[in-house]
Amino acid sequence: MERNKLKAIIFDLDGVITDSAHYHYLAWKELADELQIPFDEEYNEKLKGVSRMESLELILMNGNACDKYTLEEKEAMAEKKNDNYKELIKQITPEDLLPGILPFLKELKSNGIRIALASVSKNAPFIIDQLQINEYFDYIADAASVPNAKPFPDIFLAGRDEFGVESCECIGVEDAKTGIEAIHRAGMKAIGVGTPDQMTEADLLTTTDKLNLCEIRQYFNMV
Ligand code: BG6
Ligand code: MG
Repeated sequence: MERNKLKAIIFDLDGVITDSAHYHYLAWKELADELQIPFDEEYNEKLKGVSRMESLELILMNGNACDKYTLEEKEAMAEKKNDNYKELIKQITPEDLLPGILPFLKELKSNGIRIALASVSKNAPFIIDQLQINEYFDYIADAASVPNAKPFPDIFLAGRDEFGVESCECIGVEDAKTGIEAIHRAGMKAIGVGTPDQMTEADLLTTTDKLNLCEIRQYFNMV
């Protein structure tokens, strides 16, 4: 049987390349506290990979408050969270790359593997700038022009289509359950680097410091 060629690796950002997932949590926590809605790190797992407005709905749902506010009020809340988040991510520097990510990007680049970013965050380009890793990405999907957030596959398919490759020639890397589902719905293999209990559906569960091209090719039987 002919083996698939590995042509592209498509990365999530928050929680994969840097720990900005924690800043999302802190910013939502401040809002939830203000609204006196219970919110902790465990509940926050549900928000990973989910769009800003859908995340707000999930928080309001936890306080039975979905119908309590108008759309305008909800938009103001989401904007407040985002202002808070933008303040927090200003402190991100290249030191905040998760362990192993920079060498892995370099390894992919020098082996001619295309690299895409598939984050549904509208703040993703700013974070990539802060981390100073722009040069490694052949394509950064535009969160604003992708119709459906994860678990829909749209953002991973955007990377695949940009490169003109097949799903079976791509691998996605994610830290969220919704993200793993999005990768699979895009017809790709999924590497999970999140907390193990959220990664039960990942094809390969690992940590960022162990990402290695040779081992990935071997594991997925790709060339
Ligand atoms: C995802 C995060 O990457 O982006 C979610 O995992 C976040 O937690 C989503 O809600 C949208 O991000 P932003 O920055 O556009 O509000
Ligand atoms: Mg993530």
